[in-house]
Amino acid sequence: DTVGAVIVAAGRGERAGEPGSAPKQYRPIGGRQVLAWTIDSFKNHPDIDAIAVVIHADDHSLFDRALQNCSQPAVLTIVEGGANRQESVLKGLEALSDAGLSHVLIHDGVRPFANGPLIDRVIARLRNGSMAALPAIAVADTLKNAFHGDRVDGTVPRRGLFAAQTPQGFEFAAIFDAHQRASLNSDGEFTDDCSIAEWAKIPVDLVGGDPENVKLTTAGDIALADEKLGRKNL
Ligand code: C5P
Repeated sequence: DTVGAVIVAAGRGERAGEPGSAPKQYRPIGGRQVLAWTIDSFKNHPDIDAIAVVIHADDHSLFDRALQNCSQPAVLTIVEGGANRQESVLKGLEALSDAGLSHVLIHDGVRPFANGPLIDRVIARLRNGSMAALPAIAVADTLKNAFHGDRVDGTVPRRGLFAAQTPQGFEFAAIFDAHQRASLNSDGEFTDDCSIAEWAKIPVDLVGGDPENVKLTTAGDIALADEKLGRKNL
């Protein structure tokens, strides 16, 4: 039983703001690039046997610099991404398809705080027989719809709602097949890999997510993460 990881980091990160600045996965937090933290959390995990990192064709030099800040020389497969997240994941899976993996974890490069126990929970669920394991957190806020500006249209009942995180874990052959079929039958509208599993009728099981495992989306998220790591190092 061998587990690989695909880390997708080929996005342009426009929501994080200032045009001309580096994509968010290459911004510094706690003294090194977001992606260096993310890669290390998988590289340092004893159960991860192979890692593919998916990067943008324009980012090779940014990526090489980030790699220099990883804790050990990384044995990684580097592959260039696609036009959307879904395409980028498929390229990562293709790059690992000859590695003989039984399982794969698929993770967003912009989630640098995926810790060992979280990765353990996902892998344990797969080893217990799940075809797909999703770390998620029950939604605590009351959710509102507002489709036209700032006027509220309604309230989404919170009961049974979970916020999905990554790493999402899968049987390698099942998710690779689902992704290949989805690439022919959809427009890249899937924003995570469990939604592709759901589309392919693969059962998805919840595991406990981690509130620290935030997705860095805005410039404010990055500033907050930097502050948090700074405080930890005091
Ligand atoms: O854009 P979004 O926030 O969904 O991005 C989630 C992750 O997917 C990020 O780590 C981003 O770098 C990655 N991504 C990618 N290729 C794309 C778009 C997003 O690897 N074309």
